[in-house]
Amino acid sequence: MTVLLTGGAGFIGQHLARRLVGAGHEVVALDLMHPQVHADPESAVAAFPGPVAVGDVADATAWDGVPDGVTAVVHLAAETGTGQSMYETERYHRVNVEGTRLAAVFARARGAALVSMSSRAVYGEGRYECPEHGTVFAARCCAAAEPVASHEDDPHHPVSVYGETKSLAEAAATSECGTDVALTVVRPQNVIGPGQALHNPYTGVLAAFLAMLREERALTVYGDGHQTRDFVHVADLVSLLAWAVEHPASPGSPRVLNSGTGVRTSLLDLADAAIAGSPLPSPGVTHLDVHRAGDIEHACADLGRLRAAGAPEPTWTARDAIVDFIRWSWDKPGAGAAAWDDALDELARRGLTS
Ligand code: UD1
Repeated sequence: MTVLLTGGAGFIGQHLARRLVGAGHEVVALDLMHPQVHADPESAVAAFPGPVAVGDVADATAWDGVPDGVTAVVHLAAETGTGQSMYETERYHRVNVEGTRLAAVFARARGAALVSMSSRAVYGEGRYECPEHGTVFAARCCAAAEPVASHEDDPHHPVSVYGETKSLAEAAATSECGTDVALTVVRPQNVIGPGQALHNPYTGVLAAFLAMLREERALTVYGDGHQTRDFVHVADLVSLLAWAVEHPASPGSPRVLNSGTGVRTSLLDLADAAIAGSPLPSPGVTHLDVHRAGDIEHACADLGRLRAAGAPEPTWTARDAIVDFIRWSWDKPGAGAAAWDDALDELARRGLTS
């Protein structure tokens, strides 16, 4: 197969490209080479094992630069910063919603299957089980309610602009694909691993913890640290994406699959594992009494559907994945911890913290 990877020069795209080439496929990329993500665009292009067309997925003319012969599209290109989405609203809508719609238009025009990257952010606060109120969504009904894993059929209740754009993008892809295009939507949890952007202070908490560990600074945990996330190693996400490329859905029957480990890790456990991966003495953690607009409390994937479909199951535990990321990234260039302080200050200046 010849597989187009939008955002192919990025973190997940580079891993997936190598995996697909290793399995005998050819790859091409369409990538904006955005400076917020790529500190060294030339090396990123050189590392991609196929041609790279430089262009913006939300610009219809950019797709004309993709060579003929594409049989599948994996649409990865997106704006992904939860906090940043709360004020760069227009940019997030344009890239994530219009970019995904155009990916589906392209797939239909070229007769290709589409695997579109969404996010667990569509679930927002997700699912709770309560002895008094039963299954509730979107908000904890009372103290007795326990957060549980989100199923693919759960309702969408995004709380960030980012999550909202991912929900709208799924709808746009489904509508444009219609009965013509085989569509798989993948909703990953928090993806971590070697190659993650270290210069971009709008990426996730683990890159922030790495920057702090390298400066022997205490890790800043927002709130009490009992919030949970499901950290999935990029290698496991890539196994699922490659499987979805090789086992397309039926046209007209879009398939939605979660990606995660199915296990919740608290921010305190994340900090503990990150410290375990560091070669320096523990700087400890410090709690900041702050809540960012758009942040949720708990996230975890239900993997029942993935298992029933025979798709690859996760092989990395969150703790091993966290240690792997810290060890691999330790001596790689990246932004200093102050960049994350600045990103938080920016949210505060805009009234997006409480
Ligand atoms: C992340 C991804 C998003 C993906 C989603 C899937 C980023 C920016 N966002 O969102 O693209 O779709 O996972 O679940 O990567 N925190 C701290 N200290 C810090 C930084 C953050 O305690 O220094 C906290 C945050 O308040 C939050 C948690 O860590 O409670 C996770 O935040 P973060 O990694 O930024 O992103 P998610 O919202 O989980």
